[in-house]
Amino acid sequence: MALIEIKNFKKSFQGHDVHKDINLSIFSGECLGIIGGSGVGKSVLLKSLIGLIKPDDGQVLFKNQDITKLNEDELVEVRKKIAYVFQNGALFDSLSVYENLAYPLKEHTMMTEQDIYQKIYKTLDEFGVLNAINKYPAELSGGMQKRVGLARSIIMDPEVILYDEPTAGLDPYNTKIIQETIIKLKNKNVTSIFVTHDMPSAFAVCDRIAFLNQGVVAAVSDVKEITNNNDNEISAFAKGLRP
Ligand SMILES: Nc1ncnc2c1ncn2[C@@H]1O[C@H](COP(=O)(O)OP(=O)(O)O)[C@@H](O)[C@H]1O
Ligand SMILES: [Mg+2]
Repeated sequence: MALIEIKNFKKSFQGHDVHKDINLSIFSGECLGIIGGSGVGKSVLLKSLIGLIKPDDGQVLFKNQDITKLNEDELVEVRKKIAYVFQNGALFDSLSVYENLAYPLKEHTMMTEQDIYQKIYKTLDEFGVLNAINKYPAELSGGMQKRVGLARSIIMDPEVILYDEPTAGLDPYNTKIIQETIIKLKNKNVTSIFVTHDMPSAFAVCDRIAFLNQGVVAAVSDVKEITNNNDNEISAFAKGLRP
């Protein structure tokens, strides 16, 4: 059974039909890549999975619960289980790295200050950014900000992580670290959805890839099949043969 099911999802903005009829299942423990041209609605779709955007029609089922019907309090619970990694890291500029990571733990758990410290220390260490613990976001490089943003997203041990172009604008070193992190989390049975333009990273981390085009899921494919099949719509897109 699917962990997340998107059914007959429709969304338009100012008369522009972005999503006409999206149907997509995401299975527990997999990493599903979502690719497609700019403005095709990848970010809108991700945001709708945590109720930041409501569809005009259709359902988004998480463990059979339709999250499009939930109120803000219920969505807070969903967002503990489904983490969204924003494109820019979305750290609080006025808080140190430690305070940024401590924030969700203080807000949503009964953990002691000492347990919080240990958890943050361990997480930052895993992401190779322990030396940033007392720094402020503005003092960090773009790559480090992304890694800290990712560390904050997973600090609540989510079941699902939504990545919105996590490697965009990163150098090869930081790209590799992000890829390794996603694989590491996948090995812990975290389910991931990976929106990207970065095809090498998609091939490195995804089990399946869905290609969005003209408001629908134009193709879904096993990653292994894409590399074997030159006629595949997704590989054509990836190779720049389609807009
Ligand atoms: N909050 C919003 N208000 C109006 N239009 C929006 C909003 N969010 C997204 N859009 C429009 O929806 C389309 C898809 O956007 P988006 O999901 O950001 O695309 P992408 O696939 O590049 O992530 C774009 O045309 C964008 O302008
Ligand atoms: Mg986007």
